[in-house]
Amino acid sequence: MKLSPKMKKALNDQVALEGLASNSYLAMASWCEVIGYKGASDYFYAQSDEERTHMLKIIHFLNDMGTTSIIPALKAPTASYKSLEGLIKTALKNEQTVTAAIHKMVEITQKEKDHSTYAFLEWFVNEQVQEETKFETLLQKFDLIGRDKIAINEIDKILATESVSPESQV
Ligand code: FEO
Repeated sequence: MKLSPKMKKALNDQVALEGLASNSYLAMASWCEVIGYKGASDYFYAQSDEERTHMLKIIHFLNDMGTTSIIPALKAPTASYKSLEGLIKTALKNEQTVTAAIHKMVEITQKEKDHSTYAFLEWFVNEQVQEETKFETLLQKFDLIGRDKIAINEIDKILATESVSPESQV
């Protein structure tokens, strides 16, 4: 079964989007590291690695389907943030953008009766539910614990204990 031109483009656009997410989390990790948020920094370095695995999954799929994937030039991500809460809000927004793109691709597979790509995307649909929940839960911590220095330090400690789930890895 061959991918349609529309599906190829959507998947290649997704390679770029996952790459951008990886770069964006790398910038977040670096910002946290400089500020001294050690837990958040480790968390976002791992998140950046995870996004790279997502990008690789799609590259492998495209190549396996007989299409050479396009490795994108990446735009520079935002490099500085006002607060840890603002940074996590941006992360949630990023994930919502990724979710919308994945759902759009699923719609294309349904229209085109492309069962192979549909089955491939199922993992991403589930992954996005987890990703959005993860950041929403983290954002709730600011309401629950607070926004002063001691509270942020507590949230940083919580981030240190959170790790990227093994099933998220390729
Ligand atoms: Fe690969 Fe977090 O989207």
